[in-house]
Amino acid sequence: MTLKRVLVTGCNGFIGTAQAEQCLSRGWLVRGSVRSQEKKDRLPANVETAVTGEIGPDTDWSGALADVDAVVHLAAAVHDFSWPRKIDQTVYLRVNTAGTARLARACARAGVKRLVFLSTIKVQGEGGGEGYTEKDPEDPRDPYAASKLEAEHALKEIAGRTRLEVVILRPPLVYGPGVRANFLRLIRLVERRIPLPLADVENRRSLIYVGNLTDAILACLDNAAAAGRTYLVADDRHPSTPELISAIAAELGVAPNLWRCPLRLLRAAAALLGKKGEAQRLTQSLWADTSRIRQELGWTPPYSLCEGIAATVKWYQGAGRPAVQ
Ligand SMILES: NC(=O)c1ccc[n+]([C@@H]2O[C@H](COP(=O)([O-])OP(=O)(O)OC[C@H]3O[C@@H](n4cnc5c(N)ncnc54)[C@H](OP(=O)(O)O)[C@@H]3O)[C@@H](O)[C@H]2O)c1
Repeated sequence: MTLKRVLVTGCNGFIGTAQAEQCLSRGWLVRGSVRSQEKKDRLPANVETAVTGEIGPDTDWSGALADVDAVVHLAAAVHDFSWPRKIDQTVYLRVNTAGTARLARACARAGVKRLVFLSTIKVQGEGGGEGYTEKDPEDPRDPYAASKLEAEHALKEIAGRTRLEVVILRPPLVYGPGVRANFLRLIRLVERRIPLPLADVENRRSLIYVGNLTDAILACLDNAAAAGRTYLVADDRHPSTPELISAIAAELGVAPNLWRCPLRLLRAAAALLGKKGEAQRLTQSLWADTSRIRQELGWTPPYSLCEGIAATVKWYQGAGRPAVQ
């Protein structure tokens, strides 16, 4: 039997390294694309490397795509919560939209069968009420989400006129060993028993453990029924913020330091401190109905929320409590 080869873009990233390991463990040959030579060291063993430079409208993918059967496109200018201060919005369009379209055209030319694209739940909106389904109208609220939605449109257009099959996944916040930014910050706050005035929050937030996401991506690579489909994907449970904090605290072996505070007061105080977005993420609902991927692909997350949190906390403690960058 000939082994199949997958190209994982952004292979040195948080999800990319986990995806490469997962694909190797399921018998794929893995090639990982990285931006520059020095990023090669961060790839898992047994991954072939392709250095592709900056991703954008002019990237040369020809070498990276030689003898490749499928692509998992993860590389992206990722969501920056401090926007508009840090990332210029033209970067999102250049890397995420034009760069993805360029890759898809190169895939079609090279005879790649399937491309799995990691989009984001944020193309659907910022939540606030019922769970999203893939049938809901899209409503991206920031340049990152808008650039991902534009990329989805470009991919569908290219798939419509070539033999390339495209699958789009829209995950919520991803956590697991190697996680950074807000989730890492939350673990540190809980471990230090910083008082969090969130006991009264009754929201629902979807998350996905990286082991569940990489498993879903593999299902999208393998399953004929996935061709041309868009899927929301998430863990089994959609915890409230206090439930999530309690689950992290339990794994850390500390008592959660949750305090009661009226929601309106909390939001007003956050707005005064310039933390409106952060308060929204901690108090508002944003969750996904994942019926479609379950019904069409028979996919269910292999890990529970508790197992995902346990693996993340174990990594955090074992890695010397990494600092938030
Ligand atoms: N993490 C989440 O919570 C989450 C949620 C929903 C969707 N996603 C999506 O998942 C994918 C992977 O995210 P991640 O969390 O693994 O992010 P990450 O750790 O920051 O990895 C991003 C990868 O993209 C590469 N990259 C970024 N800009 C590039 C450019 N201009 N040219 C070449 N390479 C570039 C990075 O390379 P360098 O190391 O060289 O910068 C890195 O390999 C992204 O598409 C993201 O939108 C993530």
